[in-house]
Amino acid sequence: MNGNSYYSRKLHSLLGVIPLSLFLVEHAITNYTAFEGGLEGFNRSVSFLQGLPLVLFLEIFGIFLPLIFHGVYGLYIAYQSDLNVGRFGYGRNWAFALQRITGVITFIFVFWHVYETRFQVAIGAISHEELGATMHQIFSNPAMIVLYTIGVLSAVFHFANGMWSFLVAWGITVGPRAQRISSYVWMGVFVIVSALFLLSIVAFRGDEFKEAADAAAALISIG
Ligand code: HEM
Repeated sequence: MNGNSYYSRKLHSLLGVIPLSLFLVEHAITNYTAFEGGLEGFNRSVSFLQGLPLVLFLEIFGIFLPLIFHGVYGLYIAYQSDLNVGRFGYGRNWAFALQRITGVITFIFVFWHVYETRFQVAIGAISHEELGATMHQIFSNPAMIVLYTIGVLSAVFHFANGMWSFLVAWGITVGPRAQRISSYVWMGVFVIVSALFLLSIVAFRGDEFKEAADAAAALISIG
């Protein structure tokens, strides 16, 4: 590894944690407010985020640019690495292979997902208040539920397993005992964060969001 690629790798690893992991957990909690607080709870979370000072700056420098660097450089790493699962078929090698596979799936999922949500707001096709109705429309298609479930599980696995590797790579969990405990912790985090996302899918399919989607459709047909 030459000096440049050493620093690129370190930057790639650090951006995966700050800010991308923080964003993923925040995003799971925001979506979960649809399950806990219904349409009103979800709209409150969206307007809270929109009311943050310098929100566009935070989105560009805290989400999109780190996501593009981490994603594109991550694809380059995945392309270069030898998957090796056949030769060493034990736990950590599987995790290593899955880290790369879920990275590629997450990359594709996020592009498409941002296109149907944030991008639609950016071009003025929908407003922030209509996001709940949009999510209902998306999840009224069973194929979308399957694709979102794959996208969510890939992204959350990539995050939790990535955190495990990050702690090893940065010398924080050094011995086998620390690494074993860390794997239990991140498995727990994987289950909780996945559950938050999946419960939000259940919520967006509910009656309250259906009424919002019907009302939005009625407005479009009048307009
Ligand atoms: C059940 C699963 C999910 C639902 C219901 C969901 C919903 C949403 C919604 C409604 C928005 C628009 C937010 C706004 O403009 O205020 C959004 C944006 C976004 N989502 Fe998701 N999302 C899900 C999973 C994911 C996953 C797994 C990722 C992976 C990283 C992700 C990444 C993003 C990104 C990067 C944005 C743009 C962020 C921003 O500008 O605020 N989403 N999502």
